[in-house]
Amino acid sequence: MSINSTSSKRFNRVENILIIGNGGRENSLAWAIQKNELVKKVFLIPGNAGSERINKCERIKIDINNKNKLVEKLEFLNVDLVVIGPEIPLANGLADYLRKKDFKVFGPGKDGAKLEYSKSWAKEFMQKANIPTANFWKVNSLEEAKKIIHSSSMPLVVKVDGLASGKGVFIPDSKDECLKAAESIFNGKFGKSGNLVVLEEKIYGPEVSVFALCDGKKYILLPTAQDHKRLKEKDKGPNTGGMGAYSPAPLITKEYLNRIVQEIVEPTINQLNSQNIDYKGVIYFGLMITNSGPKVIEYNCRFGDPECQTIMPLMDQNFVFLLEKCSMGNLTGDEKIDTSDKLSGCVIATSKGYPYEYKTGLPIKIGNIDSNDCQIFDSGTSLSENGELLTDGGRVLSIVCQDDDFDKVFDKAYKNLKEINFNGIYFRNDIGHQVRKNFSKNN
Ligand code: AMP
Ligand code: GLY
Repeated sequence: MSINSTSSKRFNRVENILIIGNGGRENSLAWAIQKNELVKKVFLIPGNAGSERINKCERIKIDINNKNKLVEKLEFLNVDLVVIGPEIPLANGLADYLRKKDFKVFGPGKDGAKLEYSKSWAKEFMQKANIPTANFWKVNSLEEAKKIIHSSSMPLVVKVDGLASGKGVFIPDSKDECLKAAESIFNGKFGKSGNLVVLEEKIYGPEVSVFALCDGKKYILLPTAQDHKRLKEKDKGPNTGGMGAYSPAPLITKEYLNRIVQEIVEPTINQLNSQNIDYKGVIYFGLMITNSGPKVIEYNCRFGDPECQTIMPLMDQNFVFLLEKCSMGNLTGDEKIDTSDKLSGCVIATSKGYPYEYKTGLPIKIGNIDSNDCQIFDSGTSLSENGELLTDGGRVLSIVCQDDDFDKVFDKAYKNLKEINFNGIYFRNDIGHQVRKNFSKNN
């Protein structure tokens, strides 16, 4: 499908870019986008306190749910391309709305976002296309769940069908815990999102994140990444949004990536096409590398956070053109991302108590940070009335460094982290342990 627009003024132009979202992910996208000399302004709605520290960036205060006002503002700002960061506006159809109003948008419509906002739909989608994934049961009631849990000989994972801010997946250690998880969901803990539950076979292996920028038909892959979802060192403790990441993931060799493309990426895009879904945005494949090959754990309709902060510094200035081409449906698929030869790693500094309750509004002190190959992308910060930087979220700052081996990458990240302080700051010391040759010596 080609873009159907009457306002040619917006074509082949990347002067004014708008990014929707307020996290470290969106700040890193802005940072990579502004590198292109044709880009004059990057607007963020709403962004956070770190956004305006990035070259060319400006925050805009406007409610994205007030769609008329939003369109008026985008017209006024002469926005050439809209990049939608988080899943919720995508699931609510914001991309569809803005496309109807003639804007170029990077981000799938509501139909494509369903890959993320309905786990049962995504599982059925994979089943139809023979895409490797864990076996599953779609369950409508607690009675049904109980029957399956009691009769199953294998450990099961319990998942809320709808969006649950990363909190809707339970990995129980026993049938009892499994039943309790199903009970809590059907008792309404997740509201409407939990009207449906997916029970899944538990599978095993390292996880990897693969990102395909997609124009509806063609796609181009970004460097792979590995995320650390658990709060505590040695990958223990509760799941979080992500405590750190590194890219590219050496676990995924060129040959293995080819296998992932053949078995997962291309069948996914073909299946989207066969269901008439014109997906213009990023498809995030959350994969588990099992003994029997790669399997899809989940799809997301957005960039991963903190994978995005980790990957963006590897992008050259053409990154914005890739987003624009996706939005217009004119990727050739042969575009080369001229990534730097460097490797990248990210450590997230969180508030004490995250992913549960935590305080906000605590002053952040930042000392001397390396100016080369080291970025701080604010994840959850605000400014006090007198301009002091304050904590404003569970994940507060993303510290990202690049170098030519992962030991140097993480030495630099942890050295710079020592320059950052706020009351209750917490981070894992073992991010990248899989790829740091000196890690065991240091610890
Ligand atoms: P999701 O939100 O679906 O990505 O799940 C969050 C995390 O739960 C994943 O990153 C995995 O670590 C874990 N997980 C999800 N599904 C499974 C499964 N079927 N088997 C084992 N672990 C899983
Ligand atoms: N890093 C995991 C996520 O963005 O869902």
